[in-house]
Amino acid sequence: MTTEATDDFDVCSLDELKNKGALPFDFVHPKLGRHEIAVFWDGKDVFALENYCTHEGAMLSYGYVEPGQIICPLHAAVFDLKTGACVDRFTTDTAAYEAEVRDGRVWVVAPGETPVDR
Ligand code: FES
Repeated sequence: MTTEATDDFDVCSLDELKNKGALPFDFVHPKLGRHEIAVFWDGKDVFALENYCTHEGAMLSYGYVEPGQIICPLHAAVFDLKTGACVDRFTTDTAAYEAEVRDGRVWVVAPGETPVDR
């Protein structure tokens, strides 16, 4: 994982993300503590959300990616990949992060976070 600016993190290659569909990464935040941010490829764009479902904590990176949405693998809550909003109102919204592709790499903008290398 590489850091360009203080809040920008190079998490993986776009090819790796396209191959897997979703990938989780560990971070530490001063208020949240250790947690995971997952990046997603929906066939058209990249997105980043808090990895744990707000309902009962299932990992969204194990969910089902649909265009613009992720479906939780445990009870099927549906989240908007761009905003983190729970679009079926099954549970509360989750945190969304800015994600973009730069030179074939996926970058996440996560203010205040520190990446945890595995
Ligand atoms: S844990 Fe995600 S919907 Fe229940």
